[in-house]
Amino acid sequence: MSDKKASNQMWGGRFASGPAAIMEAINASISFDRKLYAQDIRGSIAHSEMLAQTGIISAADQEKIAHGLNTILTEIEAGTFEFSTRLEDIHMNVEAHLAELIGPAAGRLHTARSRNDQVAVDLRLWVKDECFRVAEALKGLIAAFLERAEEHAATVMPGFTHMQAAQPVTFGHHCMAYVEMFSRDLSRVRDAIERMDESPLGAAALAGTSFPIDRHLTTRALGFREPMRNSLDSVSDRDFALEFLAIAAICATHLSRLAEEIIIWSTPQFGFVRLSDSFSTGSSIMPQKKNPDAAELVRGKTGRVTGHLVGLLTVMKGMPLTYGKDMQEDKESVFDAAETLDLMLAAMTGMVRDMTVNAAAMKKAAGAGYSTATDLADWLVRTLGLPFREAHHVTGRAVALAEEKKVGLDRLSLEDLQSVHPDITADIFSVLAVQNSVKSRTSFGGTAPSEVRKQIRYWKKRLAKA
Ligand code: ARG
Repeated sequence: MSDKKASNQMWGGRFASGPAAIMEAINASISFDRKLYAQDIRGSIAHSEMLAQTGIISAADQEKIAHGLNTILTEIEAGTFEFSTRLEDIHMNVEAHLAELIGPAAGRLHTARSRNDQVAVDLRLWVKDECFRVAEALKGLIAAFLERAEEHAATVMPGFTHMQAAQPVTFGHHCMAYVEMFSRDLSRVRDAIERMDESPLGAAALAGTSFPIDRHLTTRALGFREPMRNSLDSVSDRDFALEFLAIAAICATHLSRLAEEIIIWSTPQFGFVRLSDSFSTGSSIMPQKKNPDAAELVRGKTGRVTGHLVGLLTVMKGMPLTYGKDMQEDKESVFDAAETLDLMLAAMTGMVRDMTVNAAAMKKAAGAGYSTATDLADWLVRTLGLPFREAHHVTGRAVALAEEKKVGLDRLSLEDLQSVHPDITADIFSVLAVQNSVKSRTSFGGTAPSEVRKQIRYWKKRLAKA
């Protein structure tokens, strides 16, 4: 076997034609950046219009270009456009076909432009659109939570720290915690849209151009607020993609925490909620089972979204200014994170809407584990004027007594309670029941139903304006 043959074998059967085929395979992005076709065509039409308005190309050529580009748009949407790997990416695929359609005028489109500012504007437009989609989806999820919160403003459940029952709270209050979290995600999306609302088009390869272009025209045509001020930054910046991924990762993390809670709540041991059939599956072997697959997948997919953030941060960290082909690796991360997040948001919204809440099971669990012990201690401080540390001690004795008698705190007799502190009166029972405990927590942001209803009103008003 000759050396030549051996090295050819190393390239493997897929690359029968040698280095050129390998280069084409590693270089081409058309398999994924075809997703940018609409943005690419929109950007090109805006660019051609600007070129005509500034007299850089003729109006007749511009008309041909725009007509050709619109034909290509129709072809791609109809599925009749033939994408070619040899033509590397969406930009060259579109331009090559434009030449087939309209002839030499097509060659004028790329005047005062480079694929560097072209891809930057395409991806920005795409990410900006996706941010609006995520904002809408978040609003839907928040609305679902507001509805559940309203329904369950007074439904008592255990509140946990360390996954141990800590103090009773209301399910409405718990729902409203998620409203806060997802509203922060929404505000992050909006901030990011503000920052990415600048057009890189017209930076050309990196240094700007000697043609008398008007970047404000393309900026306006593409719906950006203003042009980016530095041409080097315009072609090398991917902060907008990183920010989107960071927002997606944080939001996915919120969704994952929620998924985890739903998984726990829907176990027969907890039985706090029952998932609808549409968001769970049965087991092929164990007929009694109903598995929270959708919630588990939301929890699982979070790894993917966070992975994309870390992936792109790692791609960008060593990039000298300005453009480098490494940056072609930005797209798959962004596309997959977007698609995954959209699906996760839709699934969670459905689950929250459809799940049946078992208020009785929640209430029963809320009373377990001496969850009103803090209420007892607070009563001793408030009513008898005990220092909190001493009250804590007395309460400890009451809990020990309840444990010994195998009853809840509210099932101890007045006599029992007076044996731990002689000044305790029957009024103590007003705080030992879980409903009374939650009702008393009226501090701002607290779990009292009255307070929860205030939070609901606040968010409804705020979201109506949003
Ligand atoms: N396909 C490339 C990308 O996605 C387009 C830009 C290519 N620019 C270049 N100078 N080779 O990044």
